[in-house]
Amino acid sequence: MPKINFIDVHGETRTVEVEVGATVMEAAIRNAIPGVEAECGGACACATCHVYVDEAWIDAVGQAQPMEEDMLDFAFDIRPTSRLSCQIRMRDDLDGLVVRTPARQT
Ligand code: FES
Repeated sequence: MPKINFIDVHGETRTVEVEVGATVMEAAIRNAIPGVEAECGGACACATCHVYVDEAWIDAVGQAQPMEEDMLDFAFDIRPTSRLSCQIRMRDDLDGLVVRTPARQT
């Protein structure tokens, strides 16, 4: 199974395995990753699953769709690498993905 590396605001890394097809948000919630809340359960309706995708992974992950971009406006401290983790679905080629969690959600 592919792995995701979550780096928190203090620089601590937590590595979790996730099945292909699950979202980065689902991996975070199942593994109690601090900093990801996901209040809407993955419906792209809350922006509390905001993460920063590591620069090296931006191209592989791809761009946010318009609905996600609209919802990101409600997230805290948006950056060019911001994504909603419920909108990133894991694939084998994303094995080793690195995302950072923000200092806080909305
Ligand atoms: Fe609500 Fe991602 S879980 S927008």
